Amino acid sequence: MAHGENKSERGNERFPVETLLAWYDTARRDLPWRAPSGAASDPYRVWLSEIMLQQTTVKAVAPYYAKFLHAWPTVEALAETDLDDVLKAWAGLGYYARARNLHACARRVASEHRGCFPGTEKELLTLPGVGAYTAAAIASIAFGQRAAVVDGNVERVLARYFSVETPLPAAKKDLKKIAEQVAPSKRPGDFAQAMMDLGATICTPRTPSCALCPVHRECAARARGLEAILPYRATKPAKPLRCGVAFLASRADGAVLLRKRVKEGLLGGMTEVPGTPWVEEPEGDANLLDHAPLEGPWAQLPGTVRHTFTHFHLELSVFSAAFSNGAEVLETARPEACMWVPRHALDAQALPSVMRKVVAHVLDDDRK
Ligand code: ADE
Repeated sequence: MAHGENKSERGNERFPVETLLAWYDTARRDLPWRAPSGAASDPYRVWLSEIMLQQTTVKAVAPYYAKFLHAWPTVEALAETDLDDVLKAWAGLGYYARARNLHACARRVASEHRGCFPGTEKELLTLPGVGAYTAAAIASIAFGQRAAVVDGNVERVLARYFSVETPLPAAKKDLKKIAEQVAPSKRPGDFAQAMMDLGATICTPRTPSCALCPVHRECAARARGLEAILPYRATKPAKPLRCGVAFLASRADGAVLLRKRVKEGLLGGMTEVPGTPWVEEPEGDANLLDHAPLEGPWAQLPGTVRHTFTHFHLELSVFSAAFSNGAEVLETARPEACMWVPRHALDAQALPSVMRKVVAHVLDDDRK
């Protein structure tokens, strides 16, 4: 197919579904959220795992999935808990809007659907945090509905098998159309997961193991020597760098000062080390201490903390200072959102990874 093909050139795509399913029956990954072969899936477990797996690897998700299922074995149990407890349990997994939506979705399913997830893509799409991919995944895996389940792995498998040369993200629409054509009505959930497993284990991004692939004979990219190159990707714009300062206040009793972020926006509702806004063009040092949560003998630590978010890189300078047990937070620092947290209780806070790095930076420095 020529570069820049358009969708009218594609129709009635055929894929060796049976061959892929036979491969899945012997090679499927043993993942904690998967029901045993042939057994019915629990929609709650499918939904929980699919939300966690958005933009996150299987390896990173596994311990969080176990922790959530242990703490909240049913959607009703999750609905009854406080959002803060969900954010604490989610801390470190990233993309925190997912945790807020997870909680809102559990409450919706408990209150409006009597604790039962709806079984169609259309209804699933109305739930908080459930987009096209997740609705299709739940409908097919938990409810056996025919659906086009397209994540990054599936896009790669389809782009190669059908040799789609339009670069991503422009190719997404065509790939979705192809997925709609090839999705079977028999074992749709297994087919979706087989495509994901094939993408994750064999049809990998850089060096696919084609010799092990159950459908390599029919793969158009392989026939043309493009198997390690497709899908093409439009070059992404470089991420900007934002800078800021974090102020870690420690008290004589060892507690450190943390603050709850406002509900809205990046890391909304999570806990932070108080600091300046994060900006591309810092104001200069003169006003820095206006953002400190207490007046005190602030000293800058050597080095910086770096973290990368979806849309920007962040570099934080860290200041620390020691205070007496009676030290009071300044009015400018939202004292109502601040709390002194004993060091042994830090792990249990809703601290995102970037803030865990800030705390570690100070504690490492203390040990020197
Ligand atoms: N990635 C997202 N959902 C998945 C699933 N159900 N199986 C394997 N990989 C996945």
